[in-house]
This record gives sequence, C-alpha cells and structure tokens, in this order.
Amino acid sequence: MSNNTQSTSQRKSYRFAIRSSIYITFLLFLILLLVTFIDGVQLPAPILLGIIISVFILCFVIIQYRVQRFIYRRIKKIYEDVSLLESSNFSDREIATDMRTLKEQVERFARNKKIEIETLQIRENYRKEFLGNISHELKTPLFTVQGYIDTLIDGAHKDKVIRKKYLERAQKGVERLTYIVRDMDMITRLEVGDMSLDKEHIDVINLVKQVFDQFEMKASKKNISLVFDMKYDQPIMVHADQERILQVISNLIMNSIKYGKQNGTTEVAVEDLINNKIILRVTDNGEGIKPEYVPRLFERFFRVDRTGSRKEGGSGLGLAIVKHIVEAHGERIYVDSELGIGSEFSFTLEKVPFKMEEGELEEG
Ligand SMILES: Nc1ncnc2c1ncn2[C@@H]1O[C@H](COP(=O)(O)OP(=O)(O)O)[C@@H](O)[C@H]1O
Ligand SMILES: [Mg+2]
Repeated sequence: MSNNTQSTSQRKSYRFAIRSSIYITFLLFLILLLVTFIDGVQLPAPILLGIIISVFILCFVIIQYRVQRFIYRRIKKIYEDVSLLESSNFSDREIATDMRTLKEQVERFARNKKIEIETLQIRENYRKEFLGNISHELKTPLFTVQGYIDTLIDGAHKDKVIRKKYLERAQKGVERLTYIVRDMDMITRLEVGDMSLDKEHIDVINLVKQVFDQFEMKASKKNISLVFDMKYDQPIMVHADQERILQVISNLIMNSIKYGKQNGTTEVAVEDLINNKIILRVTDNGEGIKPEYVPRLFERFFRVDRTGSRKEGGSGLGLAIVKHIVEAHGERIYVDSELGIGSEFSFTLEKVPFKMEEGELEEG
C-alpha cells in the first residue's frame, strides 16, 4: 500500500485511491456482465450505472480513508521517533499522504543532525586538544618545582648557597605555573565569549608608557631599549577598554623583549590609519619568525620553540589573548616578520573624534 503512495507527489494524493477504486469497479462491472451473461438477467442500464458509480465512490472513500490513516500513523511514528516536530504540531495536517514533504523534512532533519554531529566532533577534538595542551604546559614547571624540592629535602638544604639557589628556581617554577593558570583562565573566559568590554576614552600613549615602565627591568637585562618612534607630546585618545588594551600592549612588548636579541630595540609607533582609526605598531629587531609559522602565531599554545625550557617562555597563550581582545573591540591585528631581522605586531583602535576629546577634557 505504502509503496504505491510513494509515487505521489501532490500535497494530498488521491491517485492511489482513484486507481484502486477504478480497478475494483471495473472488476465488479465484469462480474455483473458475467452474471448477466450466464443468468440472462438483464439489469436496467440506470441501475447498473448507479451501482457502478456508488461502488466507485464507496471504494474511493474507504481506500482514501484507510490509506490516510495507515500512512498518517506511520508518519506520525516516524516524526515522533526522529522528534522532527512536536507530534501535536501536525495532528490535523494534510501531511498524512504527502510523501514529498516528509522526504524533504527527513532529509533536512538528517542534514541538520549531520551538521550538529560534526560540530560536536570538532568541539570534542578541541576539548581534547585543549586538555592535552594544558597538562603538557603544566607538567614542565611542575616537575621543575618538584625536582628542586625533592633535592632540597634529600639533603641539599644543608648547603646555604644551594638552598637559596634551588628555592629561587622552585619559586620561578611556581611563578610560571601561576601565570600559565592565569592566562588559561583568561583565555577560557574570552573563548566562552564572556568578555564585557568597559570602553572609555583612554590615552594610548600613556598606556604604552606604563608598559615601558613595567618592563624596564626585564628589558635592561638584555639591554633592550624600549622607545617611541618619535616624541608624542599630545595624548592620543581612543575608545577602548583600558585594562584589556593594557594587556594587549603588555603582551606584545613582553614578546618583543623575550624574542628580542641582546642590545636590541623595541619601538612603538602610533599612527593615523583612516579618519577614525589609529594603528599601534610594536616593532623589534629580534629573532623574527619563519614565514610558515606566521599564520599559526595566534593559535592557543602555539610556540615556535616548543622545548621552551631554555627560555623563560610563556604559556603560548599571549598572542591568542591579544587576538581575542583586539577582535572583541571589532579591530584587527597584523603581523609582519622576517627571520633574523625582526617582527612587527600592529593593531587598530578606534580614535575618539577630536570634538569629543575636547569636550571630555573640558569636563575633566
Ligand atoms: N616579537 C616576536 N618575535 C619573534 N617571535 C615571536 C614574537 N612574538 C611572538 N613570537 C612567537 O610566537 C609564539 C607565540 O607567542 P605567545 O602567544 O605570546 O606565546 P609565548 O610568548 O607565551 O610563547 C612565541 O612562542 C614565539 O615563538
Ligand atoms: Mg608571549
């Protein structure tokens, strides 16, 4: 029965019932003819016609009704099984015999499920990878700390000089653990989309100066100079989240020192880009980055030098955080680097219109 109805393509199909009714009526007609022939009883033509028409209509109604009920029930079951729709949604719909609609809906359902499954798989891989990275990142400093503490307990604490040295190293390891965890916490919050920006009018020149001060010691260890490309007498006001942008600048400058060479220079430039944008560039003449690594720099946990133990290396999250913050502002980040020559990281910010800036200053 259902096979026949599959060929139907109208919304509500009567073809099956009509055809079946014709067959039955025709059969009945033949039988009547035969009876007439054998018995010689001649039925009057109008009665014969009446019988034939009534039989046809009766057959049609019964078959149509049965077919609809039969298919309706099965489709309802399918719908319920695949939870395509709330079954109440279509209790009185003509869908009962419409195979095309059902086919379309089931196909759409399957497509959506496929996409859903793929998304889940991607997320699952992402989760696994993230967990793998986390444990990998935490292992190194944790083992370092454990190593020094074990050695101290095993007797090294008796030597005053060694004791101090080992404690300091252990402390460094703990410090490293702390900022890896802090970065991870931040990236998790950023990736969950839990970043409410607190935009205000801020002076980027001042922010850069703060970061210069913060890293002065670190830079002087490698004799790296932290400079502006020119003298900035006036504040440059932008519309951004102060704390986050401070983080961006600080991550970029920290990298420029970390991957900068001895006696090198980190230079910051703030330029007008288009009428309502400025671009802030952090340029170093450090080790630079191989072209093939450049597209991957902003990935979580990506580091060119994976061994990382020689360097005080970070978590590999710094640039991922930078990218998140910049993009949350609706801005863009660029990188330009040449191996052995140096790197330039730059990002855009929204400039505060001159008029508003004035107004603000007056208010303040
Ligand atoms: N200024 C730079 N010069 C050279 N390489 C850089 C620079 N900034 C970042 N990198 C490379 O990009 C990688 C990722 O940077 P980042 O996300 O800040 O992680 P981390 O500094 O914790 O390793 C670094 O490990 C380094 O290999
Ligand atoms: Mg970094």
